[in-house]
Amino acid sequence: MSKVKDQLLREEGKKRLSWAESNMPILASIRNRFEKEKPLQGIKIGVALHLEKKTGILLRTLVAGGAQLSAASCNPLTTDDSIAEALDDEMDVFAWSSQTDVEYYNCLESVIATKPKITIDDGCDLIYLLHTKHQDVLENVIGGCEETTTGVIRLEAMNRDGALKVPIMAVNNAHSKYLFDNRYGTGQSVIEGILSATNILIAGKIVVVVGYGWCGRGIANRLKGLGAKVIVVESGTTNEGTSSGYHRALEASYDGCWVMHMNDAASKGDIFITATGNKHVISDEHISKMKDGAILANSGHFNHEIDLDALESNSRSKETILTNVEKYAMKNGKNIILLAQGRLVNLAQPTGQGHPIEIMDGSFGVQALCVEYLAKHGIDLKSGIYDVPNDIDNDIARIALESQGIILDQPTEEQENYSSSWNEGT
Ligand SMILES: NC(=O)c1ccc[n+]([C@@H]2O[C@H](COP(=O)([O-])OP(=O)(O)OC[C@H]3O[C@@H](n4cnc5c(N)ncnc54)[C@H](O)[C@@H]3O)[C@@H](O)[C@H]2O)c1
Repeated sequence: MSKVKDQLLREEGKKRLSWAESNMPILASIRNRFEKEKPLQGIKIGVALHLEKKTGILLRTLVAGGAQLSAASCNPLTTDDSIAEALDDEMDVFAWSSQTDVEYYNCLESVIATKPKITIDDGCDLIYLLHTKHQDVLENVIGGCEETTTGVIRLEAMNRDGALKVPIMAVNNAHSKYLFDNRYGTGQSVIEGILSATNILIAGKIVVVVGYGWCGRGIANRLKGLGAKVIVVESGTTNEGTSSGYHRALEASYDGCWVMHMNDAASKGDIFITATGNKHVISDEHISKMKDGAILANSGHFNHEIDLDALESNSRSKETILTNVEKYAMKNGKNIILLAQGRLVNLAQPTGQGHPIEIMDGSFGVQALCVEYLAKHGIDLKSGIYDVPNDIDNDIARIALESQGIILDQPTEEQENYSSSWNEGT
């Protein structure tokens, strides 16, 4: 049933899985319990996640819990073929690297054809297709999990319009996810992706980071550690319930970055990294002001952040100069370098390995426990977006600390009373 690129990479894939597994104590502890309790016995789960080694360990954990799995990637460029091959005897896998958009959507359709009861998305594509093209399959879905900021934003828009018909766990919004994955994971892996594609020096470069959310903060602060001069570009967004673009711009300034308008930053940067989840934050006008040889990379979920049409139409020619590196000869005489076709630079295969293993152990630990939660409670939940329960969120951080040998003190009864009363200090 699986459809993968058969390149005899199975043994290499198994080695990569085993290396990841040996560094994922949170999933190991969940898997031990799942093997005994089988909380997912016979449940069909449809997955659209970047198919690489850490994801493989999450999928094996779900299988250990008794689930029947079908998996595709959530991005046409991010499948590690060796992992897809190594997993395809344990589950149905529909994924290979460097897909066309048509192939990508066909693979998602193959996952939907297995009639999953629970979905796991990174970017909301499975849930979107179920709502727009496969309402018959949607009827049997008891819930889903969403991994990333962009997916949660799409789901919130669906929910506002009354279009969302199933309960979704916003895994991205768990503290154990966004505080570590978006900040430290993206911070490290985006830089690693740029370096492994280009082999350039960061020290001394002027790097423009567009967006100072959780990902942007991580990227900017790690760049500073490598000696870059960092410019941050923010916008006047005023999202309810989170700090606004104004607060984030001020935070960037207090963190020691230059903060400026993109129109001013465009002519200054050697490297530009987008991390906004928004569209065309690097526009035609910005590209026309850039230095000869400026490098563009995206770390946001979709390849919409850089105006790729403008890049194409204002160039005379385009040449692939290295794997994942394209040089555009612009009509104004300058060259602009685009990494990973404007898609997630840290995950585009073969140069990007994605987030560090320990980071994904935490994020995928949340995923595994949320799938278990849906298997138990999904049927009773109304459609809508749900926060990850506090006990799941706290458990993941506690197990991560314990795996580092750190055990926290518990508050005494006296301390609990003190912090919950209003007249103890008088
Ligand atoms: N590359 C990865 O591995 C990875 C990991 C996690 C999240 N993501 C994706 O990265 C993106 C950002 O995620 P996040 O958690 O940092 O989101 P976030 O909401 O915390 O931050 C986004 C920031 O971008 C700013 N912004 C929006 N439009 C802008 C514009 N036009 N110009 C400048 N700034 C603008 C917002 O004000 C906000 O501060 C999302 O698409 C998310 O899905 C990628």
